[in-house]
Parts: sequence; structure tokens; C-alpha cells
Amino acid sequence: MDPNEIIARLQLLAEQFAGELQNQPTEQAIRDLQAAYLSKKGKLGELQQSLGKVEPAQRKVVGQAFNQAKQAIVQSVSEAIETLVKKAEDVYLNEYFDVTLPGRLPLRGTMHPISIAMYDIVDVFTSMGFDVAEGPEIETDEFNFAKLNFPDDHPARDMQDTLFIEEGKTLLRTHMSPVQIRSLLDRPLPVQVVAPGAVYRRDDDPTHSPMFFQIEGLLVDKGVHFGHLKGVLNTFIHQVFGADVQMRVRPSFFPFTEPSVEVDIQCIYCKGAGCRLCSQTGWIEILGAGMMDPNVLEGVGIDSEVYSGFAFGLGVDRVSMLRYEGISSIKLFYENDPRFLERFWR
Ligand code: PHE
Repeated sequence: MDPNEIIARLQLLAEQFAGELQNQPTEQAIRDLQAAYLSKKGKLGELQQSLGKVEPAQRKVVGQAFNQAKQAIVQSVSEAIETLVKKAEDVYLNEYFDVTLPGRLPLRGTMHPISIAMYDIVDVFTSMGFDVAEGPEIETDEFNFAKLNFPDDHPARDMQDTLFIEEGKTLLRTHMSPVQIRSLLDRPLPVQVVAPGAVYRRDDDPTHSPMFFQIEGLLVDKGVHFGHLKGVLNTFIHQVFGADVQMRVRPSFFPFTEPSVEVDIQCIYCKGAGCRLCSQTGWIEILGAGMMDPNVLEGVGIDSEVYSGFAFGLGVDRVSMLRYEGISSIKLFYENDPRFLERFWR
């Protein structure tokens, strides 16, 4: 059979296909059309039967023509489907969406208010030369209590207050002070660290959460005295709450400090006049502090005749509550309700 004739017929089929492809209404119709031409019994397939009657020497040319024609069909089919989909999308968009409406902002993640406060506070101390130290949330009784000079019958050791894992052995740390012991054992003197972290107590009411956050501070060196402690805390308070905020130091007791104090700041809402937040006192307690008890220093092998130090522990939740007005319960920080957290997006 004359190869030119076959090629001419092939061309005719290709044109015929292109013409029919123009007005297919659906993707299915397009695919059916493709099958009508390309499947084994399709129009091209039928014509291809005659390839056997072509002179072997000329088969190659004709075969190539078939391949090209098929490729062209497959190509134009996928283009036609694409156009169809695009058209359908446009119709859909115009009919069902008002593209002039304002969009909805996607919710963006952000740092938790407690984390924001932690970073801010730690920054203030690192700028005064403090290093950041860490310790485990599961502590030994020894580091959480014994090495901090807690007597065996101290009430904090009671099951009432402490979440023990194994009584008398391991527990969820009740304060960040065990990091004092860890830092003094791990680091060469002088030691100057802050340790932020989660602590746990058997407490559960609007002003107490069973887990909350503290930042411990510790400075041990030769010649450290109470004036240094006051200076550092004063700087911290001014940086975090404002240069005009007063602080007040009251005597207190902790087993691991002597003397021990509690530090209040002037209520930042009423400026000391007395309001609901400060229970009409004008002051709000934010941290405990004191000079390192010599027993604690000696317990980690430090000569308390040569070295002295101070420590403080502050409640991050308190600081956070004071910075953001109107937080009625510490628990809001831990429920992670987006309606609450939304406030802190920035
Ligand atoms: N660890 C004490 C507490 O949790 C706070 C504190 C730390 C007091 C350091 C004095 C010195 O209550």
C-alpha cells in the first residue's frame, strides 16, 4: 500500500479529531473522543492495521507519523481538559463566591504569655552578667530538700504539698532552688546563674495552679552581701515594671537562706493607694530571696568563711498577671483557650 496515502489519511483523521475536540462539553466527552481515535479499535488503530501492507523499507516513516499523530492527540486532550477545568472554576468562583469580601485572617501561633515573660525576665538578668542554668523537673528529694537545709520534718516535705514520685526519693520539683545545688556542684566559682523552669505543688485554686513557673537566681562569690541582692532586684524591678516602681523588703524565712526576705513591689495599678488586686495593701509580693545559708554552701563543699552568696526565686505567673491587666485566674495561663491567648498575639 502507498505510504503517502496512509499518511494523508492520518492527517485527515488528525484534523477531524481537532475539529471534534473543539466543542466537547465535559471531561468525559473528551476522554470518549480520545478513545474513539486512539483505542485499539479506534480510528487510528484501524488505519494502523494497513501498516502491515506497507513496504518494509517505508514502514519506519509511516510508523513515526503514527506516533507523532498519537502524541499530538494526547497532548491536545490534556490541554482541552485543563481549559475546561479552568472555565468551570471561573464559573464557580463568580457564581458562588463574592471575591470582593474581605478575607479571614489565619490564626497565627505565638509565644505563650508565660514564655514571653520568662524571656523578658531572663534577658534582664543576663544583661547583668547572669548565665542561664537548667535542672530536671523530676528531682531527687536530696536536691529539692536535704541539700537545701530542709529539716526532715519540714512541712513542705509533707505529701500534702509535694507531688512525690517515690516518697522520700524522687519528686516533681517544688521550686527552682535545687538548681542552686546543681549549679554549685557543676560550675567553678564564682557562680552567677538564673534558672527558669516549671515547678509543681499540690495546689489547685484560682490563685494556685499545680504547675507554675519560677525563675531562680543565684550569685556566689567572695564578698557578696545583702546590698548586692537589693541592687540586682531593684534593677530587675525597674526594668520589668518601670523605673518609678518602688520595692519593699520584708523579713521572712526559707531554710536555705539567712537572712530571708520577701520582696514586694508597689501595686502597679493603684500605685500604692490600695485596690482589689493588692488586697488594699498597696503592695504585691513577687519573690522570695535571701543570703545563702552557710550550711548550704558547706554542703556542696564551699568554704562559707571565704564565700558568700545570695539567691532569689520569683513567680513568673505573678509577673505575667501583673503585666497584663485583668487576668482573674492563674489557671487561664494553662487552659490554653484561644480566646484568652488571642490577647497576646503580637
Ligand atoms: N524557693 C523558694 C520558693 O519557692 C523561693 C526562694 C528562692 C527563696 C531563693 C529564697 C531564695 O518559695
